[in-house]
Amino acid sequence: MAQGKAGEDLCVKGWVRNRRGSKNVTFVALNDGSTINNLQLVFDRYRAGEDTIRRITTGAGLSVAGTLQESQGAGQAFELIVKEVEVLGEADPERYPLQPKKHSMEFLREIAHLRPRTNTFGAVLRIRHEAAYALHTFFHEKGFYYLNAPILTTSDAEGAGETFKVTTLNLENVPKNESGDVDFKQDFFEKETNLTVSGQLEGELAALAVGEIYTFGPTFRAENSNTTRHLAEFWMVEPEMAFYDLEDNMALAEEMLKYTVKHTLENCADDLAFLNKRQQDEEKSKPQNERNELSLVERLQFVAGNDFERLTYSDAIEILKRSKPNQKKKFQYPVEGWGVDLQSDHERFLVEKHFKKPMILYDYPKNIKAFYMRRNEDDKTVAAMDILFPGIGEIVGGSQREERLDKLEQRMAEMNIPSEALSWYLDTRRFGTVPHSGYGLGFERMIQFLTGMSNIRDVIPFPRTPGNCEF
Ligand code: 4AD
Ligand code: MG
Repeated sequence: MAQGKAGEDLCVKGWVRNRRGSKNVTFVALNDGSTINNLQLVFDRYRAGEDTIRRITTGAGLSVAGTLQESQGAGQAFELIVKEVEVLGEADPERYPLQPKKHSMEFLREIAHLRPRTNTFGAVLRIRHEAAYALHTFFHEKGFYYLNAPILTTSDAEGAGETFKVTTLNLENVPKNESGDVDFKQDFFEKETNLTVSGQLEGELAALAVGEIYTFGPTFRAENSNTTRHLAEFWMVEPEMAFYDLEDNMALAEEMLKYTVKHTLENCADDLAFLNKRQQDEEKSKPQNERNELSLVERLQFVAGNDFERLTYSDAIEILKRSKPNQKKKFQYPVEGWGVDLQSDHERFLVEKHFKKPMILYDYPKNIKAFYMRRNEDDKTVAAMDILFPGIGEIVGGSQREERLDKLEQRMAEMNIPSEALSWYLDTRRFGTVPHSGYGLGFERMIQFLTGMSNIRDVIPFPRTPGNCEF
């Protein structure tokens, strides 16, 4: 919002958050979206005119000119004594769905086209911007190149088969080949095509040419997960570094996360103060044993200032097996032996109850991880790592990559991944292969952590989830 000194003449534009008044004076809280703080406008009813005042309702767009003065009221240092006003756009109070009261997050999701005008979403959008800026700055300062990985692709990098298909074939009359399968030769790309689940494979191509790159783009997964941490369209930051081993990879990810948290603490103080209070109010409605011990800002400070706990998958399994919730059969999936995939309640137990700090779990069983991860000496595990955050669970997933052609081909064969289709990927291993590593940061999960928003649908402007692709 506008800044200035007492006595200064100002012209400001923005939207009305609320209006209140007495007989002669009307106070309007105006906000232009640049900060959580409103500017108080003071109207002399006679000077402005009854008719104009009536049109200044919540949501209306205004242009006003006036003089800044020190405020007599509590809540703001300055206010603007309005001399001229133009109502740029009215917002019929009978029909405008946002009113100056608390709306539920569920209701606001239904009006996601208007929710950026609320305090909460304004704060989230501004923090989202700052976090993106921090990530770009972090990598730029380290000499990484920003790589634009393709969105349309023929590969499924994670091999989970959760891709959205892209086609221009006539769905009413799909062409078939002699064996009765869909004839993709007649499709736009003459091949079966989908939206990317990850830019990693292309990122590797570039890293093995220019050293250190990162992607930052939308990724798409058709997994039918209706959770507070899954979106069908989410943004991922994927750095990929030549000559990095798993250790270097973990160190970079930890440094990046701390840098982004610190940047947000330093540059979003007002928005964080607002969200901190919002979160503390929310905590009060939770049962005592589910409440956070730390406030939002304390959690951010903690993460920025403390080393992450590092633990192998095998050690984690031992802790989980012996844990109270496992022995009392409180986990949805009991932890019985080595080799099982960790569920989110296992991860949250480790992070929130056992260690009470962010963790990096590494050296996972090869059978629960993707084909491209580097096999360890033990032949059972791969050089994978996941970073787990309190309240979020997995925020980063990455690995050292299998750079040895024979081992990679062997793993692909074991997992039934046809090597012809990925021949371009294998070329990096055929020609000048070197050790390299990378990881993916789920950008929305990062924003959840930074803002304390409990549902991932509330940290992306227009969420896409099963059954929901509005706006
Ligand atoms: O662990 P994931 O699947 O790893 C990859 O995609 C690798 N190719 C990354 C790499 O090594 N370059 O996904 C990485 C992160 C997860 O840790 C999580 O934070 C986020 O992406 N993520 C999702 N976020 C929101 N909605 C979903 N459906 C997500 N799936 C993964
Ligand atoms: Mg993962």
